[in-house]
Amino acid sequence: MKIRFSLNGKTVELECADSRRLVDALREDLGLTGTKEGCGIGECGACSVLLDGQLVNSCLVLAAQVEGRSVVTIEGIRGADGGPNDLQEAFIKYGAVQCGFCTPGMVLAGEALLANKTRPSRAEIREAIAGNLCRCTGYQQIVDAISATALSRQEKNNHA
Ligand code: FES
Ligand code: FES
Repeated sequence: MKIRFSLNGKTVELECADSRRLVDALREDLGLTGTKEGCGIGECGACSVLLDGQLVNSCLVLAAQVEGRSVVTIEGIRGADGGPNDLQEAFIKYGAVQCGFCTPGMVLAGEALLANKTRPSRAEIREAIAGNLCRCTGYQQIVDAISATALSRQEKNNHA
């Protein structure tokens, strides 16, 4: 079957089997390997992407399901200069990246939260990343990075 959807802001067309998972279409057919596959059964969040702005596990979504919709992967998250955006910089600054396997999914979980809540509490941040497992950091630094980004975005908005 042929599907057409928006991927990181650009329309793409893809020929794929009905049973093709979105994670495979992204990584293997479209070459976007920033999306990781960990468990393959919806438990680790490594394969997280945004589908119409909502965080989903791309291992549980069929490519066919994104027909006509909007998908954002970690490759679509950038600063104005094309480099890391403020949240990605905060991950680096706060030591929220160690092996990095969970990081694309964590950043997308953070962006999904911050798109809906400008000033999330630490408990709300923990809840937002509850579906994303990290074996390395102990989560504290990830919560710090998301929290600091929320604050700095709010300050920027206040001065805009
Ligand atoms: S690989 Fe999709 S949730 Fe783990
Ligand atoms: S940094 Fe290694 S799994 Fe999170």
